[in-house]
Amino acid sequence: MNFTHLQSKINSLIASDSLTIDNRLTQICELLQTSINYYNWVGFYFANPQEKTLHLKAYAGIATEHTIIPFGKGICGQVAISNENFVVPDVEAQDNYIACNINVKSEIVIPLFKDGKNIGQIDIDSNTPDPFTKKDEEFLVWLNVQVATIL
Ligand code: SME
Repeated sequence: MNFTHLQSKINSLIASDSLTIDNRLTQICELLQTSINYYNWVGFYFANPQEKTLHLKAYAGIATEHTIIPFGKGICGQVAISNENFVVPDVEAQDNYIACNINVKSEIVIPLFKDGKNIGQIDIDSNTPDPFTKKDEEFLVWLNVQVATIL
């Protein structure tokens, strides 16, 4: 499925007021994970600014033990501080990386802003080396803007 087609499906999901927010986030994760063959794990983490931790709220793919990540740790924890997109073509080249499973080769993490504040992120793991392009980045930035409207 191409990104344009996915965007219209995501718009419908976001507008599904009868579903809880958690349910909509989970369905977005499932839609992405099943529609794009190199998106093997998709999850949303949200920040607890007092504790300086990220908490996994919704995901699709295999279960991870990394449901709470301190700011600064791993790719996710770095994005909580940097407020920048982080594209990792090869996870083995990263010193500050938290491995979720041995099949993961690459990762992309895009911060999610609400009222200008970095409140969370979408994290995607891929079992394919170096699969992410500017198109993925643009699509995921767009997605997070849509998600922010229901938070
Ligand atoms: N690899 C991430 C941890 C989260 S898992 O990918 C689900 C990281 O280094 O922050």
